[in-house]
Amino acid sequence: MSSSYSYEDCMATADWLMAQTDIRPTVGIVCGSGLGGLADTLKDQVAFNYKDIPNFPQSTVHGHAGRLVFGTLKGRPCVCMQGRFHLYEGYPVQKVALPMRIFKLLGVETVILTNAAGALNEDFKVGDIMIIKDHINMPGFAGNNPLVGPNEERFGVRFPCMSDAYDRELQQLAMDVGQDLGYGEFLREGVYCVVAGPSFETIAESRMLHRLGADAVGMSTAFEVIVARHCGMRVFAFSLITNQVVMDYDSEEKANHEEVLEAGKQREQQVEQLICTMVTRIEHN
Ligand code: 6GU
Repeated sequence: MSSSYSYEDCMATADWLMAQTDIRPTVGIVCGSGLGGLADTLKDQVAFNYKDIPNFPQSTVHGHAGRLVFGTLKGRPCVCMQGRFHLYEGYPVQKVALPMRIFKLLGVETVILTNAAGALNEDFKVGDIMIIKDHINMPGFAGNNPLVGPNEERFGVRFPCMSDAYDRELQQLAMDVGQDLGYGEFLREGVYCVVAGPSFETIAESRMLHRLGADAVGMSTAFEVIVARHCGMRVFAFSLITNQVVMDYDSEEKANHEEVLEAGKQREQQVEQLICTMVTRIEHN
C-alpha cells in the first residue's frame, strides 16, 4: 500500500463522512492510551469503526478502540479519535498522521491531542498532566517526518515553521481551566519526546533524552502535530504521566503497558473534565 494519500483520497474520505452525519466539527480530539472514555461522553453520537471508513488505517493496540466519533461536547460539534495509529504498529509515518488531514477537510480548526507518557523530569509524578509546550521528534532526525515526500500545496507549504507548533493561548487556557478545576497540584508543562517504540527505552537512552531537554517520552502525538500545523490547525496537546522512567541502574522498576492503562483509568475523570471545559471556552472565528 502506498504510504502517502493524495488530496483527492483525503477529500473522498471527508466527503464520505460528511454524507453520513450532519455534525460539522470545529474541534478534533485524539485520545491516547487509556484515555478514550471522553469519546463516550459526546452527545448526539455518530460513530464509525475505522475499518468501515474508506482509506482509513486500523488500530491494533490493546487499550485503543479504533472508532471515529462525531458528537457534541456541551453543544460544541466535535470529532474524536478513540484510538490512534503508531509507528510501532508498522504504519508509515504519513499514515499515522493522515487523520489530521481528514480533520482539516471536515472543517476542524483546533486539534486537542492526548497521550500517555513516561516522566524523564524527576519532579513529575504518576498522574501528573503535562501540557506540551514543545516536542523533540527523534524518528524525524532519521527521516521519519510525516511531511517527507512531494508537498501538497493545498494543505500547506513545503517548509512549515514548527517553533510555534503548540498554541500559546491554548496552553494558557489549559492552565487557567486547570486552576479553576482545582488541578493546579498535578498540572505541569514540558517538552515531549517521541520515539518509535515499541520497546521502552534503555536506561542509557532515557538519560540521553533527559539531557537533551525532554521532560516526558512517548510513542505518538508529534507526527500528528506536524501535519496539523502544516495545514494550519491550532494545536493543543498534553501527556498523562503514567510512569517514572527508570534512569538508575539500581532501580528494580520495569516499564509496562498495564501500568500505563491503569494510570489512565485513575485520571480519566480529570482528563475528561479538563478537555471538556477547554472546549467550551475555545473561540473560533
Ligand atoms: Cl517509559 N516510554 C515510552 N516511549 N512511551 C511511554 C512510556 C515510556 N510510558 C508511557 N508511554
